[in-house]
Amino acid sequence: MTFKAVYSCPKEEDTLDLAKALAKTSQVGDVWALFGTLGAGKSVFSRAFIQELSKAEEVPSPTFTLLQTYDAGNTEIYHYDLYRIKSPEEIWELNIEEAMHEGICLIEWPEKMGGYLPRNILRITIEILQDNTRKITLQTEDKGKKERILRAGRLPDEQSEL
Ligand SMILES: Nc1ncnc2c1ncn2[C@@H]1O[C@H](COP(=O)(O)OP(=O)(O)O)[C@@H](O)[C@H]1O
Ligand SMILES: [Mg+2]
Repeated sequence: MTFKAVYSCPKEEDTLDLAKALAKTSQVGDVWALFGTLGAGKSVFSRAFIQELSKAEEVPSPTFTLLQTYDAGNTEIYHYDLYRIKSPEEIWELNIEEAMHEGICLIEWPEKMGGYLPRNILRITIEILQDNTRKITLQTEDKGKKERILRAGRLPDEQSEL
């Protein structure tokens, strides 16, 4: 099964609120894969998510560093931006295997991982609609993750299961 939840975020503030609500449900081992074109809002989403779970004041985009890590009390957050990697194998130099098991991962441009992207992830797709509203679609194949999503502070505007 694939569970799908759709959220409408007309203002940036709505995207921030959604990211924070989802962050509160997150657990060690979660991999949040953020799909969407340049400027869609992957970094905006990530920043709010990270700030909800850590005391970080600065959350720079990992565009050049590829990875930024944050202390989140009992775990670590690994924020990746894979836009600049040239082959999927480069992820092994970024400690991604350990990160995916022992921390909470946020991955921008996860398509760059090719076949190494695990199945058991939280897939987020951000689309820009004509009026600048962000349509944010969350998909997961994991029942436990679905239950957590439905217990988040924000309910989806639409949901389905295939
Ligand atoms: N509803 C919205 N949700 C998120 N970002 C928005 C929204 N409306 C406008 N924006 C703007 O879109 C841009 C998203 O940039 P960014 O998060 O860096 O994109 P990405 O990381 O996907 O390339 C920001 O400048 C932000 O202010
Ligand atoms: Mg970005």
